[in-house]
Amino acid sequence: MISRLSWLLTLLMSFFVVSYSGIEQAEEILAKDERQKNPFANDPKAVEVGKGSFRYYCAGCHGMEGAGGFRGPDLIRGELTHISDDQDMMQVVRHGIQGTQMPASTLPDDNLWRIISFVNHLRAESQQRTLGGDWDSGKRIFFGKGFCSDCHMVRGTGGRFGPDLTGIGKTRPLKSFVESTRDPSAQFKNVVHADGRMAGGFQSVQLVTEKDSKIIGVIRNEDTYSIQILDRNEKFHSYYKKELTKIIYLDESLMPPYPDSVLSDQELEDLLVFLTNPKN
Ligand code: HEC
Ligand code: HEC
Repeated sequence: MISRLSWLLTLLMSFFVVSYSGIEQAEEILAKDERQKNPFANDPKAVEVGKGSFRYYCAGCHGMEGAGGFRGPDLIRGELTHISDDQDMMQVVRHGIQGTQMPASTLPDDNLWRIISFVNHLRAESQQRTLGGDWDSGKRIFFGKGFCSDCHMVRGTGGRFGPDLTGIGKTRPLKSFVESTRDPSAQFKNVVHADGRMAGGFQSVQLVTEKDSKIIGVIRNEDTYSIQILDRNEKFHSYYKKELTKIIYLDESLMPPYPDSVLSDQELEDLLVFLTNPKN
């Protein structure tokens, strides 16, 4: 009888111990959950998917490569103000930052983790980057065989049709520079506002006027009633929308593609060195 009782006691005790340590374990798991790791850390596929979502949801403010845009700060270079690890970034992206333009997000966790993977990937890439290009060769290509200067400025010289490329290597990794030069339209399609329009101020467009003439260019300004565009010859066209029969937003870049038969990878690296650094 006694032995049976003690057996029962032991059983009860051990049950208590087991369930107690069970609670402890659960608490530990909860604590870990609060500092949850990114389940997609260093997963190349997640980085790729995250890139698409980043460009869709975040690039309108933070720029296509996260290096800062009209309304959001640089997320790639240097220290972040609000963030020391992935979990902090999750908190910021999930809940936004009160009193600023940084919005909360309702995307599922998995999507946000993938976006975070993409941001971390860019941060890592920008840290380990050292360029091995030839500045003088880059200069010759920019003004000569690449005719980039027809449309782009560097340090005050060149065209105004495309964005100023001065210092671009400080915000764009070589890979992304190569990507936008080899296939400008691919990049173009990726970078859209949540309303389906391109971010960054170089949306290409075709205007059809009442006289049925067609003007192609990049939008420099647009509001509800009017639109201003710059054409390939750097001529400004300004219209009230009611003067136009049609506004066609194009999903093609007006920049020509440069395949490697035209400019080699080395030549693009030379270009990037020239664009990024003021002198030899
Ligand atoms: C409407 C514009 C806007 C959008 C869209 C936006 N952000 Fe932001 N974001 C901001 C602004 C502005 C700040 C800076 C807030 C401040 O002043 O601290 C910020 C801050 C951040 C920070 C903190 C930076 C730091 O230094 O700590 C991170 C991380 C961030 N955003 C990521 C994202 C991600 C990822 C997305 C897309 C899911 C996104 N943001 C979408 C405007 C935006
Ligand atoms: C016919 C005009 C034209 C020429 C020539 C041209 N570009 Fe562009 N480029 C543009 C326009 C317009 C944009 C902005 C819209 C876009 O991305 O398509 C652009 C965008 C870019 C971007 C992306 C900039 C950013 O901030 O993301 C890069 C990089 C670039 N061009 C590099 C070059 C290089 C390098 C050359 C020469 C080898 C070149 N471009 C020649 C018109 C041109």
